[in-house]
Amino acid sequence: MQKLKGSIITSPCKSISHRALIFASLSTGKVKITNLLESDDVMRTLNILRELGIRIIKSGEKWHVFGNGTGGYIQPSNALDCGNSGTTSRLMIGAVSSNPINCTFIGDNSLSKRSMSRLTLFLEKMGAEIKLTKKDFLPLNINGNNNLIPMEHVMQKASAQVKSALMFSALNLRGKTKIIEKRNTRDHTERLMNYLNIKFKKTILNKNSTAIELNGPYEIKPRDLTVAGDPSSAAFFIVGALIVPNSNLIMKNMSLNKTRIAFISVLKKMGGKINIKKTKNISGEDIGDVKVSYSSLVGVKIKASASPYLIDEYPILSIAASQAKGSTIMEGLSELRHKESDRIKSITTNLSKLGFEINSKKDNIHIQGNKNIKINKPIRIKTYSDHRIAMSFVILGLLYDNKLIIDDEACISISYPNFKKHLKKLSSVY
Ligand code: S3P
Repeated sequence: MQKLKGSIITSPCKSISHRALIFASLSTGKVKITNLLESDDVMRTLNILRELGIRIIKSGEKWHVFGNGTGGYIQPSNALDCGNSGTTSRLMIGAVSSNPINCTFIGDNSLSKRSMSRLTLFLEKMGAEIKLTKKDFLPLNINGNNNLIPMEHVMQKASAQVKSALMFSALNLRGKTKIIEKRNTRDHTERLMNYLNIKFKKTILNKNSTAIELNGPYEIKPRDLTVAGDPSSAAFFIVGALIVPNSNLIMKNMSLNKTRIAFISVLKKMGGKINIKKTKNISGEDIGDVKVSYSSLVGVKIKASASPYLIDEYPILSIAASQAKGSTIMEGLSELRHKESDRIKSITTNLSKLGFEINSKKDNIHIQGNKNIKINKPIRIKTYSDHRIAMSFVILGLLYDNKLIIDDEACISISYPNFKKHLKKLSSVY
């Protein structure tokens, strides 16, 4: 068994990195970004911004983005390739929608199967001309327009990507845009707006629901940004330390954003020994050090209402559940079918192949924890080229002396290019 020991600086946050680049591109001058995540997904956003006329250069460890102001994107000469990145596609479709340019968005096979109408139906109501493939998918063509009608949007489905896309669109529209989230989602866009002094109104409607009002068009003054560590990336090593005996580690500089660390509450409820110490605030996000040690876990029930705040952590939470005493029930997972892979299928197929008792009824997953499973010969894990499935099973593999063969490890660079380097560091410090 490969125990995890020592400390690492948490990999930069993917969600914040996309947003930092976009806000910088909309600023009226040069913005320096420190600790940008240089993963495949984030580089898609960066390259699309370059296609839209934004000068972006790397100088030492920092990225310099020469913003062109809101409404400053120019007509691209090529299709805008989002690769595997759902966040790039949704955020950038929103951002270009209020610029008078015509753009075609394309993506890889996985992204071309993910719904875009969840966003475009709002933009079409505002007057945007959009052509989708089979009414829902990329390739998509959008005729942007700075005279779109600012309006009130009610989002029934929880999606931080759709919310943020509508906010980016609103930044260049004349008048009031109101976005009502029936179920709150991660709030990095709002936090960056506060940090950048972009005035907006946020009203708490009830425990789960919020209204956001923007009054455009805005002028965004350049302000340098630093990206906090990604809780979703840290989650792999946090669970690794909880399940591999004698582990003990510290994840440094992790964002402590409440909309991102619900998985820590779940793991603590399972009996996980986790301590958080806040260290500072960077660019509107609290960050801190998270200390974790091996623990005896017990199964829990995770309610559907928590799902928007756990959306990227279900794969690694399933790995924790597989090592817990008793059963874990995860409810309300319908959105998992629409991620980089159908994650309900990817989780259940692989865990049951290894001999775990796992089943999914409707949108729920039931996992019976079992620490006694022995793996004597190599077993191939099918990742469906989904980075979070790949990393989750690398972590489970620590318990089985590398007997789990991950069919596609290259996909890990989509969100966490330093994953293997960090794993090596944590597993070779004794
Ligand atoms: C993200 C939002 C989530 C998440 C994705 C990143 C973001 O997607 O799954 O990895 O940065 O806004 P949805 O908003 O579609 O749930």
